[in-house]
Amino acid sequence: MSEYIFIGGSHGIAEASIRLLLQRDAQARVHLYSREVGPWASEKRVVWHCFDAVNSEELNVSEVNFAQFRGLVYAPGSLQLKPFTSLKLEDFRKDFEVNYFGCVRVLQTVIAQAKLSTLSPSFVMFSTVAAFRGLPMHTSIASSKAALEGLSRSLAAEYAPRMRFNCVAPSLTDTPLAQPITSREASRKISEERHPLKRLGTSNDVAHAVDFLLSDASSWMSGQVLRPDGAMSL
Ligand SMILES: NC(=O)c1ccc[n+]([C@@H]2O[C@H](COP(=O)([O-])OP(=O)(O)OC[C@H]3O[C@@H](n4cnc5c(N)ncnc54)[C@H](OP(=O)(O)O)[C@@H]3O)[C@@H](O)[C@H]2O)c1
Repeated sequence: MSEYIFIGGSHGIAEASIRLLLQRDAQARVHLYSREVGPWASEKRVVWHCFDAVNSEELNVSEVNFAQFRGLVYAPGSLQLKPFTSLKLEDFRKDFEVNYFGCVRVLQTVIAQAKLSTLSPSFVMFSTVAAFRGLPMHTSIASSKAALEGLSRSLAAEYAPRMRFNCVAPSLTDTPLAQPITSREASRKISEERHPLKRLGTSNDVAHAVDFLLSDASSWMSGQVLRPDGAMSL
């Protein structure tokens, strides 16, 4: 059995990533931590734990067999787009809580145990194209994701060669998170046009990058940021 931890995966990109993982690795067992179980209630290889990355106490990992631990995905995120002067400090704090501090808390619990694994665990975090390419209205989300990229790169240096840490930085992807933009026909069309590849991402477009980073196919990569973004970062 290969043990994986997903923080988030009841819907969106992480749900698609779990599907790819279960297809690729017949030995995979996923511990899913999220507020809703999503489509996984009757899937025997997914063990759901009710968890809120912002409000729950420490992650309960007592059911994870860390000797067989192969990887973790941290998916919670936010999409708060406002002009800089309209943002209150509290808005920045909310974005940092879910995108950054939630991840720090999870990693402090998991990395301590992951040292028991002999399987070179791989950790995958989500950034955004806006942390690389400046976009208006993105100051809060871009800075919290940029902090996450810094965290990931530093951990990659600190824990090499035993563990790997990488980020995936999508552009606008058609998921529940992006619905405020994608559900309005006019703003959807404008967003599609802005991308050199002339469409929005699908959950699967991004999940393939996540699955690559989780797998041994990326075993010579750590501290990197992969960009499935319709070439928006160009
Ligand atoms: N979609 C985009 O356009 C886009 C663009 C750039 C970057 N990203 C980043 O990509 C990542 C995934 O995005 P997505 O679009 O797939 O988002 P999504 O549709 O909102 O899915 C997020 C997943 O994380 C879980 N989650 C959210 N908040 C949580 C919390 N506080 N505690 C525990 N679980 C939580 C959700 O489950 P529950 O609701 O059941 O808890 C869900 O399974 C995010 O970090 C996002 O910032 C997305």
